Amino acid sequence: MSNTSNPNYHWWQTGVIYQIYPRSYQDSNGDGVGDLPGIIQCLDYLSETLGMNAIWLSPIYPSPMHDFGYDVADYTDIHPLFGTLADFDRLLDETHQRGMKLMLDLVPNHTSDEHPWFIESRSSRDNPKRDWYIWRDGLPSPIRAERSASGDEAGRGVGGEGAPPNNWLSHFGGPAWTYDEGTKQYYLHQFVKQQPDLNYRNPDVVNAILDVMRFWLDRGVDGFRVDVIGLMMKDPEFRDEPPNPDWDGVKPFDSLDHIYTANLSEVHDLILQMRAVLDSYDDRMMVGETYLPNDKLMLYYGTPDKLECHLPFNFQLILAKWNAAGVHKMVDDYEAALPSDGWPNWVLGNHDQHRLATRVGSDQARVANMLLLTLRGTPTCYYGDELGMENVAIPPEKIQDPPAINQPEIAHLVGRDPERTPMQWDDSPNAGFAAPEVNDLWLPIAPNYKEVNVANQLNNPRSFLNYFRKLLAYRKATPALLWGSYSSIDPGSRDAQKNCFVFERQADDQRLLVVLNFSPQDQKLSLPGLGTGRIALSTNLDRAGEVNLADFNLRANEGCIIGL
Ligand code: NOJ
Repeated sequence: MSNTSNPNYHWWQTGVIYQIYPRSYQDSNGDGVGDLPGIIQCLDYLSETLGMNAIWLSPIYPSPMHDFGYDVADYTDIHPLFGTLADFDRLLDETHQRGMKLMLDLVPNHTSDEHPWFIESRSSRDNPKRDWYIWRDGLPSPIRAERSASGDEAGRGVGGEGAPPNNWLSHFGGPAWTYDEGTKQYYLHQFVKQQPDLNYRNPDVVNAILDVMRFWLDRGVDGFRVDVIGLMMKDPEFRDEPPNPDWDGVKPFDSLDHIYTANLSEVHDLILQMRAVLDSYDDRMMVGETYLPNDKLMLYYGTPDKLECHLPFNFQLILAKWNAAGVHKMVDDYEAALPSDGWPNWVLGNHDQHRLATRVGSDQARVANMLLLTLRGTPTCYYGDELGMENVAIPPEKIQDPPAINQPEIAHLVGRDPERTPMQWDDSPNAGFAAPEVNDLWLPIAPNYKEVNVANQLNNPRSFLNYFRKLLAYRKATPALLWGSYSSIDPGSRDAQKNCFVFERQADDQRLLVVLNFSPQDQKLSLPGLGTGRIALSTNLDRAGEVNLADFNLRANEGCIIGL
């Protein structure tokens, strides 16, 4: 076996990150919601069965759960639903004992409206914490009156005296401002009204969040996924945002061009301060949540003398139209845009996006995972995607996600419950997520759980899960995949160019070819210059041995890794 430890690379470069949505992973106490002791029970699955290197937990802090934990009421404690700080310490210790890293979700842009900072801030205009959040007078002008929205329980902005200070919108529907009757001003919230935005122009707020980072780093966490990192600074003049000329008329939030609420240049100074905290510890990291095109995305790496995010999340595989030619170009463009010292990363799914197997189809999900685990850079996997879990249709009375509740007409587009359903462990009632007698799971189990579950798939040598395990094990043992170079290859005929994505990875004398058929038809590849190769792994786990690359047939929806 090749030597795959390399001191030139950090764990967050060679490792694979696995995202757990804690509410949905393993319920150990029968309340229908996953918890930390439940995750501890699954650590052997993560380290031994899968071979993951790092776990990222979506928020586990005390929260009234208006946005399922992304509304944090206390940054330095654990929600009783999930357990205690002692459970967390045990989770961290047991994770480390297995050689894995643990990353937390840091949610700095906003708190819960039940956070003591906000309770103080809204208590009076002269409270010392007033300026920790973003308060503005309403506009008296009747011209603006139509902007004054009526509130509702699902977290839309609420109008009151006058009209909202400007036209800014909430990502989750309605205005980004809510009127506070007590102090007769509006506060800003870019998500639900129970998630007021912090004011990072106040240095005390910056220091407070840096202290939160230190709290968890001192406890031993290995890094943070930083929620909406680009939204932390807003226009100090609170100018109206211009209309988006390219709006497709679907999501109201997209009707404006968000030049005054997102990706302001000042946010980079803030990120530098966060990075400095991380760098004062050993080998910790942050990955920023950044849905951006290449030119803007690359800014979040910083510069060699002013490093920012270790990884700014690259979500292009999630957003891409699933066709070979488009993905080929997208990967080449991303590679070309990376700063020379910027480490790439790729993501196929997360708790905000429709499930991979639903987006690309279950036939293509194996190809997509082969792509994720063979591209250059750090892969992040979403729990359940290793089984091919699909979106679950949520009955209307069970819908909980605020953007779906606020915008029923586009709930099918914006609702995120379908990709957050319980992990499918086995075919017992409740799929092994909770004890069989538990009645009220927070979200329903997928109807296909009797077939699509861990236990069942472990018994089937060619199952999705066993394929995923082999793929990951192969990656971990293969320097060309861990840190080798990347170059795409012209797959030959026009048909092949349209339907297949072919690339090479190389480290020292190890050369690998990855050939992926994105189409439901057989494809012929003609790569005479490459001679013969040996199939190391195929998506259906049913091919091996030597092949002639001048005349190579890829079956429908098939991918292969071929040693050259
Ligand atoms: C991005 C998170 O991924 C999403 O789940 C959350 O609703 C928003 N940020 C607000 O925190």
